[in-house]
Amino acid sequence: MSDCNLNGTDTLSHFDLTYFIGTTHHTITNNFSMCYYMLCVIVTILAISIYCLFYIPCSWTKKVYDGYNLDITVGRKWNALAKRDAINRIRKLRKIGAKELPPPYPNGWYSILESSDLKMGEAKSIFALGEHLVAYRTRERNVYVLDAYCPHMGANLGVGGRVIDDQIECPFHQWRFRGSDGKCVNIPYATGVCQGSKLRTWLVREVNDNIFLWYHANPAETPWSLPVIKEIENEEFVFHGRNEFFVNCHIQEIPENGADLAHFKAIHEKSILAGGINSVTSRWKGPGSHHWQAEWKPCESPYKHVARVTLKHSIEMTSKLHIFEMDVTGEQIGPAYVQLHMKSATFGRIKVLQTITPVEPLIQKVVHRFYSQRILAPITKLVFLGESVMFERDMIMWNHKAFRKHPQLVKEDSAIKLFRSWYLQFYSENSKTFSEASENLDW
Ligand code: FES
Ligand SMILES: [Fe+2]
Repeated sequence: MSDCNLNGTDTLSHFDLTYFIGTTHHTITNNFSMCYYMLCVIVTILAISIYCLFYIPCSWTKKVYDGYNLDITVGRKWNALAKRDAINRIRKLRKIGAKELPPPYPNGWYSILESSDLKMGEAKSIFALGEHLVAYRTRERNVYVLDAYCPHMGANLGVGGRVIDDQIECPFHQWRFRGSDGKCVNIPYATGVCQGSKLRTWLVREVNDNIFLWYHANPAETPWSLPVIKEIENEEFVFHGRNEFFVNCHIQEIPENGADLAHFKAIHEKSILAGGINSVTSRWKGPGSHHWQAEWKPCESPYKHVARVTLKHSIEMTSKLHIFEMDVTGEQIGPAYVQLHMKSATFGRIKVLQTITPVEPLIQKVVHRFYSQRILAPITKLVFLGESVMFERDMIMWNHKAFRKHPQLVKEDSAIKLFRSWYLQFYSENSKTFSEASENLDW
């Protein structure tokens, strides 16, 4: 019996041990699998994050109705109809003081599209500077811009128009127009072409990933050349993101900001953590205030269409610790284009391009595009965030302010006076006035 018991115990012990070893092995294998699984998940998340950080550009957009107090404009109900209502109310409000406004479309180069938005063989309808245009890109990558409405029956060539070689074909009855001179070169159902049938052509240049259009009240006027940023052109610097704002003001207010030296402390001093839209009333008392030293100067002939703003920036963490020190040179090239060159001993060089396109007299589409070497992607994205927040602070001012033809300035505001006389060169006697430009808009 005892043998039996003993044997039985032995058998049981052996079974227990095998079971124990089996279970332990199973648990270890399970734990190992679990650890391995977790590690894979962590590595994958890390790899995706690093990929996104270095390879996916950022985007930040604000529409014209953003940055308004919704309770005042249309109440809390915020649907498509309410948005349209808000835009119309904003437009009407901004008519106040319209007599003081300079012409809404100064002479110069305007970005009408970013290069990546127009693919080969694609045609797009554009509404800018109060004009309806069609832009298209041929297989040879050339870009042409023409008036959008067909002289035949008025179809919009930007909506369904086909690109054939260097021509664009109207979607309605297939008349074809040549990009270089706008002439009608083919009517498929007629024996000849309609003599004199022609679309207006616009001068375009594609540089720094933008398609610029020359807009001048005097079309014969020779355009100045647009500088090419070699680091963008030779792809040493890559694109890290863009922001886009629709601002409700006259175009001149935006570049004037660079010459308004007193506003840097008032508007841009608080840390970006205080936010953009409500920064002035924000209770943020933490560290991280921005320090700016600014100077604004017009350039001499033959670059009199250029002005330069130089900025020294740093972020104060404590009275003794300043970080993010950088020198910024902003080249204002004509009325609507800025190239910002940022340089820091700590992190290197970043380029930012600002383009302003008046959609209509008091609605400006403002885009900033950010470039640097790939390795600087994380820092460039921080700059992107900071700049987007800072720009929102200006936007709130512009959206609500009145344009002062004769502002009351003190001697410390002298750069504003200088800016105003410099900017006058972009208006001609025959520039469209505000009321002429507003005639066809649906007020
Ligand atoms: S409307 Fe363009 S071809 Fe007829
Ligand atoms: Fe500003």
